This record gives sequence, C-alpha cells and structure tokens, in this order.
Amino acid sequence: MSSTSSPKNNPPDHPQNYYLTTPIYYVNDAPHIGHAYTTLACDVMARFLRLDGVNVKFLTGTDEHGQKVEKAAIEAKQAPQDFVDRVSGNFRQLGQAMNFSNDDFIRTTEERHKKSVQALWRILKEKDEIYLDSYAGWYSVRDEAFYGEDELIDGHGGKKLAPTGAEVEWVEEPSYFFRLHKWQQPLLDFYGKHPDFVQPRTRMNEVKKFVEGGLRDLSVSRTSFKWGVAVPDDPDHVMYVWIDALTNYLTAAGYPDTKSQEFQTFWPANLHMVGKDILRFHAVYWPAFLMAAGVEPPQRVFAHGWWTNEDEKISKSLGNIIDPFKLIEQYGLDPVRYFLLREVPFGKDGDFSKTAMVTRMNSELANDFGNLAQRVLSMIHKNCDAQVPQPGAMKKADKALIEKAHSLLDALYPYFQEQAFHRVLNSLWRVIGDANRYTDEQAPWALKKTDQERMNTVLYVLAEVIRHLSILTQPFMPDSTGKLLDQLSVATSARCFAYLGPDYALAAGTSLPKPEGVFPRYAEEEGRESG
Ligand code: MSP
Repeated sequence: MSSTSSPKNNPPDHPQNYYLTTPIYYVNDAPHIGHAYTTLACDVMARFLRLDGVNVKFLTGTDEHGQKVEKAAIEAKQAPQDFVDRVSGNFRQLGQAMNFSNDDFIRTTEERHKKSVQALWRILKEKDEIYLDSYAGWYSVRDEAFYGEDELIDGHGGKKLAPTGAEVEWVEEPSYFFRLHKWQQPLLDFYGKHPDFVQPRTRMNEVKKFVEGGLRDLSVSRTSFKWGVAVPDDPDHVMYVWIDALTNYLTAAGYPDTKSQEFQTFWPANLHMVGKDILRFHAVYWPAFLMAAGVEPPQRVFAHGWWTNEDEKISKSLGNIIDPFKLIEQYGLDPVRYFLLREVPFGKDGDFSKTAMVTRMNSELANDFGNLAQRVLSMIHKNCDAQVPQPGAMKKADKALIEKAHSLLDALYPYFQEQAFHRVLNSLWRVIGDANRYTDEQAPWALKKTDQERMNTVLYVLAEVIRHLSILTQPFMPDSTGKLLDQLSVATSARCFAYLGPDYALAAGTSLPKPEGVFPRYAEEEGRESG
C-alpha cells in the first residue's frame, strides 16, 4: 500500500514504520476467545496503519517452553516437541480462521529464537546483571510466576494460593538471578519520561505503585526440569520461561544482529498489546532486562481487559470456555470481529452474551450498514442502468453528508492512536446513521417519479459515502467491506486511505455488478441467513 498512498493523510506524528506484537500464547491448551481478542486488536491496528501507508511489522506466535507446557505434554502422553508442534499449529489455524494479517509467526522452540535469547543472556551475564545463587520460595506453574510469602492468599483447606487464585508450590533449587532491585529507580525515571508507556493510564499508576513498593531480584533459571532454553555455559539450568518468552519480540526483529536493516527499522517496538494479567512482565521486567542489556525499551504497552461468558469468569473447570472457531461458525467471521471490538470499550473488562452478539449483528450490521448499502446499490442497479449515476448540482444536505465522510479519517486518527477501537466504530456508525436519515429524508424512490436528476444526485452522494465507510471499516471487517467495494467497482489498488476524499470520487458511468447483501441477519432457528 505504501507505494500508492500519498502523505496527505499521514499526520506529522505518524511513524513511517510500526512494529506491533501480541503476547505469544502458551501451547498448553486450545486457543480461546482471549487469544483471539488480543490478536484481533493488533490485526485491526496493523490493517489501519497499512491502509495509511505505514510500513508495518505485526508479530504473533507461541510460547512453547516451561513447566506448564511440559506438564501438558506429559498429560497428553506426547514428547514435548511433538506436543508443541501440534498445539502451535492450532494457533496458526486460529489466525487463518480469524483472517489475521500477521507478518511473522514466531515459536520459541525455533533456532533463531534460542540463539537470540542466549545472546541476550550472555550480555546480561557479562554486565554482571545476572548472578548465581539459590531460590527458596513459592512458584505457580499455572502463572509461571514466583510469589513472595506476603503475596499469597488462603485457599480451601489451608492451601496457599497465588493472588490470581492459582496453586503454588514450594521450590528450592540453584538459580540464576537478575538484579531487578537495581533497576527500581531507572524504571521510575523511565516511566516519568514516558508517561504514556503503559495504557490505559490507570494501569500506568498500578505499575508505578508496584515498582515504588520495591523490587526483589528475579529468579531467571530453573534446574528441576529440562523443557527450556539451556543457559549458556551451564547446562544444568534452563532459562525462566518469561525471559525466554519476552525476548521473542527482539528475535523477530533480527536480534542479536542489531545492525540488521530489520532491527534498525523496527526496534524499539511501537506497541506490545497484552492482557491485564501479564502487564507486570511487560511493563516492569521487560524494560529492566532491556535497559540492563543496553537495548532501548519498547514505546508502549497496552493492557486490555478480560472477557467473561454470560457474566461468569471463563475457566476450564467451569467448562464455559468460548471457542473462537465455533463462534465464527455460528455467527460468521466479520460479525464476530465487529462484536469483540464494539461491545466493550477497549481496555475494560467485558461480557460475552449471545443476546448482545445477536443484537449488534442484526441491528448495527444487518440493519444499519447492511440496509444502507443494499437499498442504495439496488436502486442504482434498477434505476441507473447499473452504473454510477451522474450527479447534478449539490444541495446543502448533500454537501453536509459528503463532508462528514471526508472528515472521518481525521476524526479516527486520535482514537486509533490510543487504541480506542470502540470509539472508531462509534464514529463510523454515526455517519452510517446520518446516511440512513438522509436517505429517508431525500426519499430517492419518490424522486424516481418526479425528478430523475435529483434522484441521481442523491444516489451518487450515498454511493460516495458508502465508498468512504467501506474503505474506513476495512480494518475491522476486511471480507464484508471488500465485497462492498467490489460492488462499487473500486479497484483493489484504490482502497487505501490515500484514495479518500473528492480527488478519487466514484466516476459517473462506471458499471456496477449486481448487488448482494453482505451482512447476514441472525435468525434463531435457521442460524445465519444471507441478507
Ligand atoms: N505466554 C504468556 C505470554 C508471553 S508474552 C511474552 C501468556 N500466554 S497465555 O496464552 O496464557 O495468554 C495470552 C493472552 O490471552 C494474555 O494477553 C491474556 O490476557 C489473554 N487472555 C486469556 N484469557 C482471557 C480472557 N478471558 N479475556 C481476554 N483475554 C484473556 O500469558
């Protein structure tokens, strides 16, 4: 897209290159809605930026080492490597099913990654940021995290639990430690200089408070199991899974070759998208590791909220996991993509309910956007020889609506910059509402009998507004909007943001194919219907 887009749509603070990442997913389990959600948010961001002419690198992948994954492999009676190959494949399939546009898919069992994390380790060791000692304390395999005695809570039968509710076990073993303690002040200075480092803002405050409370050195190796990257020059140790996992972001940018074009272009990463549960790892440990190794920290970490299912916490034991493959089968891909980012203000927790899903699908997609497109395109097909009509003189109402479409992109930028996807959709749907009202007021079906030229003008205005809406909604629903743009005969090369505005307006006389509904209505008995 970069070759066809013009800089006119690129505001001055827009970067030329943009590197964004999802967390890499543990392969202990099947992909669920939480995984689909984080990557979807990044996918929408990546698609928006590409349409805007930005050179994007969008990374996702799988986190394949550690005790939790080893345990899952044992339970599945498979050798760890076979097990991770299989489950990692499920995450790739999720990417295809969700139409994710990632540029790379990293697995921590790949050679490129082992080389990278071992190089990082060596540097930390050389700089005396890592030392050998022994660990005696609590560990949660589910969280893959160490906990202090003071953090634990009491569970049933006097059992001790992590603050997340996960079981903990007592661990005593030789271990390497990272001098996290030393990085307390540099981290606080870093947050002071980059107040937007963590988003939403309330999360930045949580992180600061945690660091201000004092940092203990962090155990970064394990000796009681083998499924991990070997510590250089000390094969009894494997690296703690989080130092291994976080380094994936560097690996995919070409690390340790920091002179490479890839690294120079894309590091530091612009955005690490994560769920709120793993913020501490990304906003505290990760920048500390990087600063200690002399590598620039990322620019931003966004922590999104968690989904519940019909108001219940989602958990394997409750058996209420939401399977994204099933959702797509039931409602269709684009309605699911739309719903996940429209239903909940991004950053907040949200609830999945069938009622909410069906309501949004039927009222906002089928009725609002679907009907708008369908009635305009059908009228053009029937009454204008299936060609873009020739508009006559524009009236105030016509100009006002077109102007709203033209100014949409500028209104969306700030929302995208702060990952406020729900606001982006809100703004788009406000114009859809305006266009529907305009259609009702202008009543082109009545003009057909009284004033053909005026009908042509009204239908032209609407077609041009639908062109804008379709181009701008592409990041969220690439398939459906692609079909709408096909129905407007907009060339594939003319679908990026540089083609918004009057300069590339639809040309009168362009032939249009027979229109078809692109937003199906959900009907309880039959499931999906095309509408
Ligand atoms: N492997 C680590 C991440 C390492 S990144 C260097 C990990 N993996 S995970 O598979 O357990 O979780 C991945 C993401 O899924 C997290 O961002 C987490 O917040 C998200 N979700 C898991 N359950 C979720 C919901 N119920 N709702 C929304 N997101 C949730 O952590």
